[in-house]
Amino acid sequence: MRLPSTFKRRGKRGEPLKKLTTFKIGGPVEFCARPQGVRELRELLLFCRAGAVPVRVIGCGSNILSSDTGVAGVIIKLDSSAFRFVRLSGRQVEAGAGASLAELLTACCAAGLSGLEFLAGIPGTVGGGLAMNCGVSTKAGAVSIGDRVDQVSVMGYDGTISVEPGKSIAFGYRSSGLTGCVIVSARFTLKQSNATAVRKLVREWMFKRKGQEYSLPSAGCVFKNPSKDCSAGRLIEECGLKGTRVGGACVSEKHANFIVNTGNATCSDVISLMKLVRREVKKRHGVNLESEIEIWK
Ligand code: EPU
Repeated sequence: MRLPSTFKRRGKRGEPLKKLTTFKIGGPVEFCARPQGVRELRELLLFCRAGAVPVRVIGCGSNILSSDTGVAGVIIKLDSSAFRFVRLSGRQVEAGAGASLAELLTACCAAGLSGLEFLAGIPGTVGGGLAMNCGVSTKAGAVSIGDRVDQVSVMGYDGTISVEPGKSIAFGYRSSGLTGCVIVSARFTLKQSNATAVRKLVREWMFKRKGQEYSLPSAGCVFKNPSKDCSAGRLIEECGLKGTRVGGACVSEKHANFIVNTGNATCSDVISLMKLVRREVKKRHGVNLESEIEIWK
């Protein structure tokens, strides 16, 4: 792939996905582009479209398992200041796709704006979080970022920007239907509360995560919960699979729906372990587990 010189200055050839994902797994990406603004993003997308170059967007890389041999085409990382902002105006918050959910939440806490506290501890960006409709499940029900967003600005691969009202986006469980485009920014209208109360709620949501695995690299929950009353983690634990290993990949001892990289796990180790888990859960519970993480080949 021959890239125009503007892009060459704004990215890197052969950047290892190991460095770009929380799993710390993955070979080189053909080109990782870091556009500095909307105009550069448009030029990049038009270039890729004209040359039929595959395009993917990466946020914190917290839900991705990438191939050991790397991936072809362009990966877009929106971590420049043009995409990594949070702006407040009254009860409205506008965030760039590259802002982290933690940055969004910090701004909400400071302004005493309530409604997004459940995002506490989710290691993602605003763009990544919206693309996969991240959220939490509780006994009282599930809540996801798609339930709270007013509107999302996206750029189509033809370079046109459109603003999608939240209500018209087909958000589902860990899905958004926001495909074939790049999320640029999003707007939320929150409830006015006060900083102390919002911080207290954030701490409460963080506390709910204490049973999760944070000590080793992972991509969070590997499988979707089969239903709202049925946790994949519990099904896997009941099969006695905690601590099961394939190569450097291991089912977490802490939360059975996490697979951790104990140091030198490869993509194929994780895929083999996922197959083993699926097989055992099907055998014992008759349930087909579906992957929650994206596998990039
Ligand atoms: N459980 C077990 N064994 C385990 C893990 C969980 O018995 O190894 C039981 C727990 O004791 C609890 C129930 O299963 O009774 C639910 O566990 P947890 O509260 O950890 O929630 P989850 O359903 O496993 C979901 C999301 C998480 C999110 C939490 C927040 C999915 C697949 N997972 O997990 O999201 O953080 O709710 O409450 O929807 C992610 O998407 O990557 C992720 C980690």
